[in-house]
Amino acid sequence: MKKKSILFIHHSPSENTKKLSTLVEKKVDTITSDLNLKTLNMIEANTSSFKEIDGLIIGTTENFGYMSGLTKDFFDRCYDGLKDKTEGLPIIYYVRAGLDGEGCKVALNKILIGLRWRQVLPPLILKGSWKKDYLKQLEKFVLTFTSGIELGIY
Ligand SMILES: Cc1cc2nc3c(=O)[nH]c(=O)nc-3n(C[C@H](O)[C@H](O)[C@H](O)COP(=O)(O)O)c2cc1C
Repeated sequence: MKKKSILFIHHSPSENTKKLSTLVEKKVDTITSDLNLKTLNMIEANTSSFKEIDGLIIGTTENFGYMSGLTKDFFDRCYDGLKDKTEGLPIIYYVRAGLDGEGCKVALNKILIGLRWRQVLPPLILKGSWKKDYLKQLEKFVLTFTSGIELGIY
């Protein structure tokens, strides 16, 4: 059977957010053998990155009450090219937010509805001052998603 593939696109501008994206990249690779994970910085991602993928993970920060500029830039560049070609794509996303993450969540949810992607788990909003526990929360969140993709649940 063909291995399933997950695309992970992220913008990780700080030490803490680098820890988050590195965790996703490393954990998924070590725990799952029947899955390919393709990791790209938000700025490298484009519509061709979505060829033959079975699931998507987005990681972003909240800035100025919205998704980070590079995450917005990704959607600015790729929305039209992805629309009507990626309907039903299972997705999860996490947001690192120094304050509340709400503006980013509202904006992303609108875009996901526009693209008709399927958000299969509620977003993980890692808000407030940095806590080590965020890494555990993210690990659980991502592995729930990747096992669901592997088992064909999502
Ligand atoms: C220019 C700028 C604007 C920011 N705006 C927000 C914001 O509107 N809401 C929020 O929750 N956090 C905001 N933050 C905090 C970032 O979300 C946070 O610094 C980022 O996620 C990195 O997390 P870290 O500081 O733990 O490394 C902002 C940070 C910067 C640098």
